Amino acid sequence: MIKIEAIIRPDRLKSVKQALTEVGINAMTIANVKGRGEQAGLEFTARTGLFRIDELPKVKIEVFIEDEDEDKVIDAILASARTGEMGDGKIFVSPVTRALKIRTGEEWRYA
Ligand SMILES: Nc1ncnc2c1ncn2[C@@H]1O[C@H](COP(=O)(O)OP(=O)(O)OP(=O)(O)O)[C@@H](O)[C@H]1O
Ligand SMILES: [Mg+2]
Repeated sequence: MIKIEAIIRPDRLKSVKQALTEVGINAMTIANVKGRGEQAGLEFTARTGLFRIDELPKVKIEVFIEDEDEDKVIDAILASARTGEMGDGKIFVSPVTRALKIRTGEEWRYA
């Protein structure tokens, strides 16, 4: 099992959720977050001078999926989250060693 964390533009959430549903992924965690990437936020010139916004609003989607679904899920997120502009976000993949369903106690262990 792996964890995929995708940090995306808030206005792409609907499209990403739909793309995930289309590849059979229903369960996910969604959080409103703030962050900064390589450009360390956003710099812009207003009438009164130069402004810098340190942290921009983003949405983090977390999905725990089977290893074999990794490429399919990543492709779905790439296609649905991309605008081609800076700030489109990042995807991080990590291994998961254990998962439990609280209702039933059902447990999955991965070496
Ligand atoms: N190395 C990182 N560690 C943790 N979070 C990150 C990292 N890089 C990006 N993020 C998160 O992803 C969000 C979007 O990042 P962003 O798309 O601006 O990345 P980038 O590497 O600067 O790419 P781009 O050059 O396309 O802007 C950030 O606001 C932050 O929440
Ligand atoms: Mg950036």
